[in-house]
Amino acid sequence: MCGIVGYVGPQSCADILVDGLRRLEYRGYDSAGLAVYDGKKVDVVRAVGKLQNLVKALKEHPLEGSLGIGHTRWATHGRPTEVNAHPHVAGNIALVHNGIIENHIELKRQLGEEGVKFVSDTDTEIVAHLIHRETQGGHDLVTAVRRALGFVHGAYAVAVIDQKQPDRIVVAKNASPLVVGFGEGEMFCASDIPAILPYTKLMLPLEEGEIAVLSATGFELTTLDGKPVDRKPRVITWNASQAEKGGYKHFMLKEIHEQPRAIEDTLRGRVDLAAGDVVESEIGVDAATAQLISRVYFIACGTSHHATLYGRFLMESIARVPATTELASEFIGREPVVGPNDLVVAVSQSGETLDTLAALKVAKEQGARVLAIANVIDSAIPRAAGSAFYTHAGPEIGVASTKCFTTQLAAMVLLAVFIGRRRGSVDKDRAGAILQALVELPHHMRTVLALDDIIRDLARPLSTAKSSLFLGRGVSYPVAAEGALKLKEISYIHAEGYAAGEMKHGPIALIDAEMPVIAIMPDDKSYDKIASNVQEAKAREGRVLAIATKGNADIGGIAHNTIYVPRVDATLSPFMTTLPLQLLSYYVADFKGTDVDQPRNLAKTVTVE
Ligand code: F6R
Repeated sequence: MCGIVGYVGPQSCADILVDGLRRLEYRGYDSAGLAVYDGKKVDVVRAVGKLQNLVKALKEHPLEGSLGIGHTRWATHGRPTEVNAHPHVAGNIALVHNGIIENHIELKRQLGEEGVKFVSDTDTEIVAHLIHRETQGGHDLVTAVRRALGFVHGAYAVAVIDQKQPDRIVVAKNASPLVVGFGEGEMFCASDIPAILPYTKLMLPLEEGEIAVLSATGFELTTLDGKPVDRKPRVITWNASQAEKGGYKHFMLKEIHEQPRAIEDTLRGRVDLAAGDVVESEIGVDAATAQLISRVYFIACGTSHHATLYGRFLMESIARVPATTELASEFIGREPVVGPNDLVVAVSQSGETLDTLAALKVAKEQGARVLAIANVIDSAIPRAAGSAFYTHAGPEIGVASTKCFTTQLAAMVLLAVFIGRRRGSVDKDRAGAILQALVELPHHMRTVLALDDIIRDLARPLSTAKSSLFLGRGVSYPVAAEGALKLKEISYIHAEGYAAGEMKHGPIALIDAEMPVIAIMPDDKSYDKIASNVQEAKAREGRVLAIATKGNADIGGIAHNTIYVPRVDATLSPFMTTLPLQLLSYYVADFKGTDVDQPRNLAKTVTVE
């Protein structure tokens, strides 16, 4: 998830581009750059780190001109360095890109055979070279972009300028956002509305598979296969802050709703449905390691720890490898025994959590094989691990983790299937069925997110509770733990996430008419048992809200209220049941009026022990 901005018109554009990038920094902030046509050539300035560093670089090397593109990066392929920063240049072409090119390895090999020399490690540079190759073949810029994108599989929003046709920007979109802004004798483009909102309110979001030519005198919109499109721009009435949050009240709500897209990005290029397998080059573990290990040992904190509870479940049920998970702070507090036959997997969305980093170092010192699952590329934990699986959820601004959690869950599934296939513990058919169900999840997640209003209504009575109990069994236990954490951290209501079977060993004493019980009970082999636990809670006057599978005819007689989620492969139900709990917590907190995006006493990155 990066930020793109572009301008063509009569004004000097560098300040407009930087201003736009400032409003897009929430989409990525590890490096930034501009490419501006100065009347003779396209000149590029890039800098690592926050936008401020680019501003400094531009003071030393000002860019003058009225056609330009800019980018703020959230690295996916290649570390956050200056050469990997956008814009990428190939001959006369300069390009900025948001998205992930799935077939980058194949395309890079082909271009390499044609003699192309790459200067960066990015997937984006490949697209610049493809377009350059097409312009060398005599095509005008829009045809060249159209032809080049024909070779590309994956997600992209691109903005391209050509030194030889310096009166236009060509933009195209597939699965990554791009909006075009209409000014008086000038045109803008950006990843998102806020970037260009101060300059124009007249905007047209591109749709999948569309390509547009922007110039000071006109705008031409077609499909990628060349059919004209006639769609009119609309006037945007949001203010700047609403626009940055995509019209949502808080970043957390926006990020909850981004999850289907985030999961698609996690899976992109990593699933081979025909082979019923996971693509080895994309997950940070090799086949030899998968075969050799005798245990998987997860370490993490907080929400990431809850993802590892699911990981443990999958390692045992799919990969049939003994698996354990440990809170990182406890791991370092004891004298853990790990060694060369263990794969220690450190999971951290920020990649910087000090406890997890310290635990990883201990594991490494003891000779364990290590892997990081992280969202922030090149952060401390993946660097220390040396091998990484990046979840590609994009920046998460809300302190409470939502899309980072579900993308970690997706990483767990891919890892378990990969290891299971290498060890022969899951066959091609079962693995294929799991992966097929996995790629269908975003569709079902959208169905759950459409329940937003219903969940909001159910949240209102919960907002006056003093304490609550979340119950789950088997694959739903991690969901219960995470549901409780989410509620307590943003609403400040005490919440316990418990394995339902443990309720009778203590927490049942807390249950009375004042105690909401949230039971995560999808149709699976634990259903009957958790249904009995819920009856026990009800017998103590607990108010039960169930999260159950659509079509469950019996839950109505058990729970006071039920949120029904779509039926998916039982192994993957946490993707369905987590979402209502995130929304529930969000609305409870919003009713209470707490600071949802920055709850008290918490930080997004925890670098103290
Ligand atoms: C809760 C939350 C925290 C983090 C924890 C670990 O919503 O975000 O519990 O999960 O601080 O952080 P990472 O994953 O960055 O290691």
